[in-house]
Amino acid sequence: MSDRRDFMGMALGAFTGLGALGALYAAKRTWDPLPSVKAAGFTTLDLKDYKEGVLVTEQWRGKPIFVMKMTKEMVKKAKKEDVAIATGHSELERLIKVGSDYFMVCVGLCTHLGCIPGYRPESQDFLCACHGGMYDATADVTKAPPPRGLDIPPFKLDGTKIALGEQGKEYKKMLADGITLAV
Ligand code: FES
Repeated sequence: MSDRRDFMGMALGAFTGLGALGALYAAKRTWDPLPSVKAAGFTTLDLKDYKEGVLVTEQWRGKPIFVMKMTKEMVKKAKKEDVAIATGHSELERLIKVGSDYFMVCVGLCTHLGCIPGYRPESQDFLCACHGGMYDATADVTKAPPPRGLDIPPFKLDGTKIALGEQGKEYKKMLADGITLAV
């Protein structure tokens, strides 16, 4: 009889223990942020993976992010353009320099009313079909109604890696110089 009672006691203990574990697990799942929320704050990209002149659309906090490694010709053209229209700074200052390469990294939402501009590889520019706004390859505005070039997301460089969502010194300088607005 006492064996039976011991067994019942152990079984009940095990059952209670399992229940407690289950409750703990459920509580932990409730407290933990969802994977998508965890990943939503930051996006890390390795810029060495991008091909010259090819626009790639990434995601950061649910926004499209345009990334393009500039070709030599694009960089030459950006150097020649005197100043970015909205900021009065060199077009080159809109680009992110990694080693000897330049990258355009911008939020892919028109600064007029938020449509997604389309890239046109043949003319190396962006056209926003909503109201005809245009941007050059550095994503600076070339035709109204957009009031400024595409905004640059907060970024931090670490070698060839770029973390979107963090404010590195290069981004802080862009903000201070008025190259981009904070997004
Ligand atoms: S939303 Fe792009 S031009 Fe109006």
